Amino acid sequence: MAHTTLAERFRTMDYGAAPEDPAQALAWLGQFKGRFGHFIGGAWTAPAEGRYFETCDPSTGEKIADIAQGSGSDVDAAVRAARAALPRWQALTPHARARFLYALARQVQKHSRRLSVLETIDNGKPIRESRDIDIPLVARHFYYHAGWPQLLEQEFPGYQACGVVGQIIPWNFPLLMLAWKIAPALAAANTVVLKPAEFTPLTALAFAELCNEVGLPPGVVNIVTGDGSTGEALVVHPDVDKIAFTGSTEVGRAIRRATADSHKKLSLELGGKSPFVVFEDADLDSAVEGLVDGIWLNQGQVCCAGSRLLMQESIAVPITKKLQARMAALRVGSPLDKTTDIGAIVARVQLERIEALVAQGVADGASCWQPDVPIPSRGLYYRPTLFTNVHPTSVVAQQEIFGPVLAAMTFRTPAEAVELANNTAYGLAASVWSESLNVALQVSARIKAGVVWVNSTNMFDASCGFGGYRESGFGREGGREGMREYLQPTWFRKAPLLRRGAVQGQDPTRVSAPAIDRTVKLYIGGKQVRPDSGYSIECRSRKGVLLGEVPLGNRKDIRNAVEAARRAEQWSSAGAHSRAQVLYYLAENLSQRGKEIVARLAAVVGKRQASEELRLSVERLFTYAGWADKYEGVVHSPPFRNIAVAMNEALGTAGVICPEEAPLLGFLSMVLPLVVAGNCVIAVPSAAYPLIAGDLYQVFETSDVPGGVINMVTGRPAELMKVLADHDDVDTLWCYGDEELCAAAKRLSAGNLKQVWTNEGRRIDFFHERYGAGRWYLDHACQVKNIWVPYGE
Ligand code: NAI
Repeated sequence: MAHTTLAERFRTMDYGAAPEDPAQALAWLGQFKGRFGHFIGGAWTAPAEGRYFETCDPSTGEKIADIAQGSGSDVDAAVRAARAALPRWQALTPHARARFLYALARQVQKHSRRLSVLETIDNGKPIRESRDIDIPLVARHFYYHAGWPQLLEQEFPGYQACGVVGQIIPWNFPLLMLAWKIAPALAAANTVVLKPAEFTPLTALAFAELCNEVGLPPGVVNIVTGDGSTGEALVVHPDVDKIAFTGSTEVGRAIRRATADSHKKLSLELGGKSPFVVFEDADLDSAVEGLVDGIWLNQGQVCCAGSRLLMQESIAVPITKKLQARMAALRVGSPLDKTTDIGAIVARVQLERIEALVAQGVADGASCWQPDVPIPSRGLYYRPTLFTNVHPTSVVAQQEIFGPVLAAMTFRTPAEAVELANNTAYGLAASVWSESLNVALQVSARIKAGVVWVNSTNMFDASCGFGGYRESGFGREGGREGMREYLQPTWFRKAPLLRRGAVQGQDPTRVSAPAIDRTVKLYIGGKQVRPDSGYSIECRSRKGVLLGEVPLGNRKDIRNAVEAARRAEQWSSAGAHSRAQVLYYLAENLSQRGKEIVARLAAVVGKRQASEELRLSVERLFTYAGWADKYEGVVHSPPFRNIAVAMNEALGTAGVICPEEAPLLGFLSMVLPLVVAGNCVIAVPSAAYPLIAGDLYQVFETSDVPGGVINMVTGRPAELMKVLADHDDVDTLWCYGDEELCAAAKRLSAGNLKQVWTNEGRRIDFFHERYGAGRWYLDHACQVKNIWVPYGE
């Protein structure tokens, strides 16, 4: 090709090579003599154990530099530096912190070309992408977050920073993921220890230098390089207050388990298998262009890649043809060439993973097609690949490949499209193509994913939260939701711990006295039902008098309750007004039965508390009836021709272990925010007075609460919690109890990565509206879905 003349190129209209000059980036590497230490306390620090590993250019296989392998003691030094820097960082005015973030944004822009080249050399992504997508988004992220410090007091009153934050990032968007992590953390006044991925540490180290250039106080940002073991040391370090992770679902699960026994806050942005849904009325050429972006951006090594093409049957043939023609025109080659579409795969192990999964797809019976495009003989390259005739259960339809591989399937109706789209354990993103606004929006609303792009794909902006449903993780990055991840209510951090073993239920050996006067049942699907076990447990007064019996619920009862909750799912689409009406009606009926309920409850909590619980419960019902149509989403205006509608969506089916100490008020304080947000609940009532279930279901039955929306299973909370944690159809678990119970809830929920929210073993004063109700609860009862809709000139 090199000897082709300009005249010949003009005739064929072929691209010529347009290589980017890496001289500046290489000169920068030269300053470090090809060897990098950690960045700790504002200084370059040699690794304690003296070990280094190589980072290589995947397009040539050549070594770029030696990188410090972080050990436990390096991580410890970095965490100490971050802890030491915290008071000084937090003592700055919000404006001063804002200026640092602003300065970082400016500095990124100033060095954008060098950073783009470094990113491309280290990762293998085309320079066109690092230059036009990654680095501009990095700058935008710091600009956006420079705006937050001065708004925090008004927008998050009563909240404070988590403290020292440990952040672990992957190799696919190295500097962008760093920005997504560091910008909000600093904006919320935390200090940071960040571990970049072992394949791509260079831009994080370049960023460390920028921190010094803008005069960021030493220790506010620390970068420790290394492999998974370095990450692990950061995760388990006892003086880290929060972990933010982006990477594979498998490691996310391990981190969920490893942090369960601590009070570390956790956010996980994990894998995906995102559907790209094309309806027959879509603009097919645009959809094909969208696909190029959706699956071949960054060689398909994108967590939200549109890796499953779902095509309406009637257009399967034309779209496949157009797609194949387009794939044949993709240029695979040197990442530093500005005309390259598909660069190199990050590492040999990743290339081998892709090859193995493709081979498995072929073995599963799918048809594999690759265009006959030239690929360089040296370096780690993989041709764009299309699978057709894919069975929905095939490995290429289910597993994240993280490579330039698209799996195509067909559907007939919108309902079938939604079913196929949701036929995955993940829920990160989706792309929906149709010229019919009704179809596009209806399908977008029904797909379970954190972000949906209508007639577009891979749009990102710092103002719009990004993150997943289900096994794609929890927590959001960007926007207001992203800030929430780095803040906590001050009062909560100060709340005293509950006594250990507080939630064991009553001592069954206590002397029984008069005859039983009450037996309640389980409440499942709107019906009073007997327990599967056929056993009951006693409920006694403070003085040991037998007050009645409640069923001993077991695994089977929970399973039935989960099924009932699933069947009641349409509650989430009942209008906010209707949900408010149900709550007002509940308040009315609870008031009416108040006297008898108080009289019974008093035997366990005393007369004064019982009356107070009733009074505040009625109030709380009003509070949440009020919130029902006021806890709303927002419309973002990202800097493109789009709006992004951020909707608060219900999580689905929620398990709730209720507080022991306030049997009525505690129950309602936990259950109401979930219900008002559209979730269906399986609640395990207070172990101190589970008989409250009987009072409550009578009120529910007379208040138009649809069957299955609130289910109650009495029994031993610790045992029932395990069943709820383990159940794949329970989407979230709210667990109130001592530290041990809370830790177990987090640990046992790692299986399907359900969102777990606990009191961290702390006592919550439900008698005080400020602590017992409000936005903090609602924020945990929903997940934000951003639907991007083309709009404007
Ligand atoms: P990974 O999840 O192992 O690595 C991500 C980061 O976590 C890296 O910084 C790594 O050093 C660190 N890490 C690894 N083990 C750890 C542990 N036990 N504790 C703490 N940190 C740990 O991902 P990997 O092996 O690089 O890629 C494997 C697969 O994961 C890919 O094929 C892809 O399917 C998926 N992946 C998904 C990403 C996403 O953005 N969702 C990003 C990277 C990978």
